[in-house]
Amino acid sequence: MAKRSTRFVCQNCGSVSARWAGRCDGCGEWNTIVEEVDGGQSGVGGAPAGLAVSAKRGRVVPLVALSGEAKEAPRLASGMNELERVTGGGFVRGSALLVGGDPGIGKSTLLIQAAAAMAEAGHRVVYVSGEEAIGQVRLRAERLGLGKAPVALAAETSVEDILATLSAGPVPAFVVVDSIQTLWTELAESAPGTVTQVRTAAQALIRWAKASGATVVLVGHVTKDGQIAGPRVVEHMVDAVLYFEGDDAQRFRVLRSVKNRFGATDEIGVFEMTGAGLREVANPSELFLGERDGRSPGTAVFAGMEGSRPLLIEIQALVAPTSLGTARRAVVGWDGNRLSMILAVLEAHCGVRLGQHDVYLNVAGGLRIAEPAADLAVAAALVSSLTGVALSGESVYFGEIGLSGAIRPVARADARLKEAERLGFRSAMLPAGNLEANGGRAAREGGKATGAVPIAGLDLAELQGLADLVARIAAGSGGIVHRVPIGDRPRPAGAAR
Ligand code: TYD
Ligand code: MG
Repeated sequence: MAKRSTRFVCQNCGSVSARWAGRCDGCGEWNTIVEEVDGGQSGVGGAPAGLAVSAKRGRVVPLVALSGEAKEAPRLASGMNELERVTGGGFVRGSALLVGGDPGIGKSTLLIQAAAAMAEAGHRVVYVSGEEAIGQVRLRAERLGLGKAPVALAAETSVEDILATLSAGPVPAFVVVDSIQTLWTELAESAPGTVTQVRTAAQALIRWAKASGATVVLVGHVTKDGQIAGPRVVEHMVDAVLYFEGDDAQRFRVLRSVKNRFGATDEIGVFEMTGAGLREVANPSELFLGERDGRSPGTAVFAGMEGSRPLLIEIQALVAPTSLGTARRAVVGWDGNRLSMILAVLEAHCGVRLGQHDVYLNVAGGLRIAEPAADLAVAAALVSSLTGVALSGESVYFGEIGLSGAIRPVARADARLKEAERLGFRSAMLPAGNLEANGGRAAREGGKATGAVPIAGLDLAELQGLADLVARIAAGSGGIVHRVPIGDRPRPAGAAR
C-alpha cells in the first residue's frame, strides 16, 4: 500500500503546501487551507509512489506523425440551438464538460431540459442528482412539462456506485452529474467537498467518459468571486467549461463558453427564465436593445464585451437646458465620474458646452457597464441629444476616450464587430489604429486613413479623436447619421420597427 501522508490543500486554488498557513501563497486567499490525508492514489499527489512502478511496467506506445487522418469529433445534438452554439455544434461524444454558475441561476433546470430533449430524440440519458431527492427532480420535470421524457434518474453521491450503475447495461449517450461538489469517492480520504475529493471524483468520471464514449456533464457551483468553488482544478481536466450567468432581478440567463477543446470560446447562448423553464432567445440583443427607436436623437448602440462575451447595448442620453441654478447629472448603469470626465473632455477639446444643461444617462435593459470602451457610445449619445441629430440605428460605437480628447484602441475589436455584423448592423465607429492593434486586419486601400472601409461586412469609420466624432455627427457624414426618414429600409434584428 502506498505511504500515507498529510498535506495542506488550499480549497480555493488547489495549491498544496507542506504546512498550514493562514493565507495561501498561491492565490492569496485567507483561511482556505485545509489538512487532507493523501491516500497515495489521488492523482497529482499520489504520483511519486506509482511512478517507479509504471516506468518498469509501462508498455511502449507507438509514436505517430502530427499529419495524418483526423476525424471530426462525433457530436450529440441536444435539440436546443443555443446549447448547440455554445458547445460548438453539439456535445462531443466521450467528452466531459463543466457547467458552472451561482446557486439558483438555473443549472439544474437547463440540464434537465437538455437531458429530456436528448432522451426524446432516442438517446439513452442518465441524470444523477446528488443535491436533490428523486421526488424533487420529478417535481421540477413535471413543472417543465417533461415528466414523460425517458430520462433515467438516480439520486446518488458515491462515485463508485455511480460508475457501477453507468457501466451496467447499455452505455448512455449523455450523463449529467449534479453537482460535482456533492460527490465523494473512496479513492480519496479527505472529507466530501474538499478539493481532493472533487478532483478525484471528477477524474474518475472523466476517465469513464473517455473510455465509454459517453458525454458527461458535471455541474459546479461558483463562489462569490466568480470561481467554481473548490474545483478550479477541474477546469483544467474537462474538455469544455461553460458558465451560466445572469442577474437575479432580470429574467435573462447567458451560457458562455470559457474553454472549449472542440469549438470557439466567444460563443454565447442566451435563455430567458420563464414560469415553464428556460426559453431560448435566438436574438440576444433584443433583450438589451429593447424597443429601440432609431430615429430619435440621444441613443447610441455600444458594442461591448461582458467578460469574453460580446454584447450590444443601447446607451440613452437626454440633454436639456437646466431650469435650476446648478445643472443636474443623473446616471443609471454607468459610472457618474466617467460621465463627468466625458463632459469635461467634450467641453475642453470639442467646444461642446453642457454646463447649462441637465444630463441624464441610462443603460437600457437594466445592465451595468464597467467598460471604458463605452465612452465613445456615451459621447455620441450626448452629442446626438444636444444637437437633435439622430444617429443611425444601424451603427455601433466603441472606444475609450482619453483626457486629451484622443480615442484609444480597446481590446477585442474583432469580437465586437463580429457580434454587430451578426445582428445585422451595417457600420461601426471605432478608434483609429484599433484594427492594427488587433492583428493588422485593416484593408486600408487607397490610403484613406479615416475613410469608411468595408471589413467583415461592416462599414468601419476610424476616428482620430473626439472632435472627429462631434464633427461627423454635426455634418452627418460617413453614412453614420440619418437626417431623413429611414422608410422601408430593412432594420437590424432587434431594432425599432
Ligand atoms: P435551478 O435550476 O434549481 O438552479 P441551480 O441548479 O443553478 O441551483 O433553478 C432554480 C431557480 O429557477 C429558482 O429560483 C426558480 C427558478 N425557476 C423558474 O423561474 N422557472 C422554472 O420553471 C424553474 C424550474 C425554476
Ligand atoms: Mg441545482
